[in-house]
Amino acid sequence: MTPDPNWWRQAVVYQVYPRSFADSDGDGLGDLKGVTSRVPYLRDLGIDAVWLSPFYPSALADGGYDVDDYRDVDPRLGTLADFDVMVSTLHEAGIRILVDIVANHSSNAHEWFRAALAAEVGSPERGRYIFRDGRGEHGELPPNDWPSHFGPSAWTRTLNPDGSPGQWYLHLFAPEQPDWNWDSPEVAADFITTLRFWADRGVDGFRIDAAHLLKKDLTEPYRPVPTIGVVADYPSDGSHPLADRDDIHEIYRSWRVVFDEYAPPRVAIAETAAGAERRALYARPDELGQAFDFDLLDTPWDARAMRATITKCLDGARLSGSTPTWTLSNHDIVRHPSRFALPPETDLNAWLLSGGTDPVPDLDQGRRRARAAVMLLLALPGSTYLYQGEELGLPEVADLPAEVLQDPQWFRYSGARKGRDGCRVPIPWTTSGPSFGFGSADAHLPMPSWFSEYAVERQAVEPGSMLELYRRALRLRRDLQTTETLTWHDGTGHDGTDGVVWFSRANGWHNVTNLTTDPVALPAGEIILASGPVEHGKLAGDTSVWLRTPPGQ
Ligand code: GLC
Repeated sequence: MTPDPNWWRQAVVYQVYPRSFADSDGDGLGDLKGVTSRVPYLRDLGIDAVWLSPFYPSALADGGYDVDDYRDVDPRLGTLADFDVMVSTLHEAGIRILVDIVANHSSNAHEWFRAALAAEVGSPERGRYIFRDGRGEHGELPPNDWPSHFGPSAWTRTLNPDGSPGQWYLHLFAPEQPDWNWDSPEVAADFITTLRFWADRGVDGFRIDAAHLLKKDLTEPYRPVPTIGVVADYPSDGSHPLADRDDIHEIYRSWRVVFDEYAPPRVAIAETAAGAERRALYARPDELGQAFDFDLLDTPWDARAMRATITKCLDGARLSGSTPTWTLSNHDIVRHPSRFALPPETDLNAWLLSGGTDPVPDLDQGRRRARAAVMLLLALPGSTYLYQGEELGLPEVADLPAEVLQDPQWFRYSGARKGRDGCRVPIPWTTSGPSFGFGSADAHLPMPSWFSEYAVERQAVEPGSMLELYRRALRLRRDLQTTETLTWHDGTGHDGTDGVVWFSRANGWHNVTNLTTDPVALPAGEIILASGPVEHGKLAGDTSVWLRTPPGQ
C-alpha cells in the first residue's frame, strides 16, 4: 500500500458489523477469525478500507456500543493476537482498517464505572462519569427531565454500597451506557491511550461514535431539552446543553496531535447528528478530518431533491477542505433496498412493527433503485461508505419475531419501537446450511430461508447480480477516479420534467441516473457500466449509467 496521506479522500469503506459477518467457531456470533477468513472476498469486491464496528468486550446491551474495555477483544470474538492477524491479512490484501471509538459512554461493566459505584459521592472515581443528586425530598426524582435516545429518561438511579438509594447518573443512550465526564482529565488521557493502543497495532483510522455528544453543560438551573437526536433542534451556535457543543472541538484537536504522530497520519470520521455547516467543524484538518453525511438516507427518489442533497454535502465538505461521505445504509437504519421499495411517506418503524407487510414493499423497484443509487454514489467526488450485505442487495429482515430482538430500543420503548436488528442479521455466504455459510450453527439473529437467494455463492456466478455490479463498479472506479470536482448537466427527462441526475467529472466520466419510471434518451458517450437496460439509446426508469466522453465534455 502506498503511504499516501490522502488515501481516504475518495476511498470506498466497507462497514463490517463483526458479530454478523462470519462465525469461525460455530457459536452463532461472528468473530475476528471470521473476518480474516473473508479477506479474499473483500479484496475481490474492490474496497479500499474496512470500518469494523465494536469488537470490544461487551455485555451487548447495545450491540457492542456498550464497551467494557476499550483495549481488548471480546473473548467471544477472539483475542488481540487474532486482531493482529486480521490487520496484517487486510493490509497484505491492500485494505486499510478503521475501528470504532465509542467515546460518549462506556458500559456499566467498565472497571471505572464499577469503581464509581463503589466510591463515595464526590470522589474522583465518580468524577469520571456524570453523577448528580436527585430532586424531591429523598432524591427520588431524576435531576431533570432530559430524555435519552433510547427511552424517556437520561438518568438512572444508583444504589449506595449499603443498598440504600443513591445518586443518579447520566446516560444519553441505554442505562447500561453511562456517559463519560469529558471535563475529567483522566478520561481525556485514557482515550489518548486507547487511540495510541490501536494506532500502534496498525489501525489506519477511527470512526468516532456519537461524536457530537461528548461535552455537556450541566450548570444549574438545567436548561430544558424536550427531545434528543432531532438534528433540527440543535442550535447552529453550538450552545445546546447536550449536543454539538462548541467546546467539543478541543477534544478532537488533541486527538489530531496523536493521529499526526503516525506516518501516514491516522484518519478519523465523525458520526455526528449536526447540520452540514456544523458537521464541517468536525471535519476540519486539525480535528477528525471527515464527517458522515447522512443526508442521502432520507432524500426522496427525486432528481431535484437528490441534486440538492449532493450540492449541500459537497458545499459542506468544502467548508473544511474535507470530502463528502456518501452512504445509503449502516447498522442503524432499515436497509436501503427495502426503503427504496416503500412509498416515500412510509413510517419505517410502523412498517417494521407490521412485520414488513404494511405497506407491502415493491422489492423489484427497491432493487432497481438500489442498483442505480450505488452507481450514482460511486461516481460522485468523495468517499463512499458501504454496509456489509448491501453488495448482495439484501433487504431488511422486517419480520423478526419479538422473542429474538436484541435492540435496547425495543425494550426501552416497551415494544413501540422495533429497533435495528433487521439490518444486523448475518449475511448469507452459501445457499444452504444452518446459517447459509455464516457459520456451522444457527446465527445469533435468525436468518430467513429467502436469504439463500441472496447468497454470495449464488451471486458470484450469476450474470447481472448485485454482487457483480458492485465488483464491476468498484473495479472501474479505481481507474476512473479523478480530481474532486463535478459538473452538472441538464437533467430534463423525457417529457420536459426534471427527472434525471446527470453530472460529469473532469476526465469525461459521466453519471446519468433516471429517477423517473419512463425511459429517457441518453446523452452521447461510450457506455461503460449500466445498472439496468439501455436499449435503442434509451435509459430505462430507475436506472443509472456511466458514460465516457472526451475530457471536459
Ligand atoms: C451510534 C451507533 C449506534 C449506537 C449509538 C450509541 O449512533 O451507530 O449503533 O447505538 O451510537 O453508541
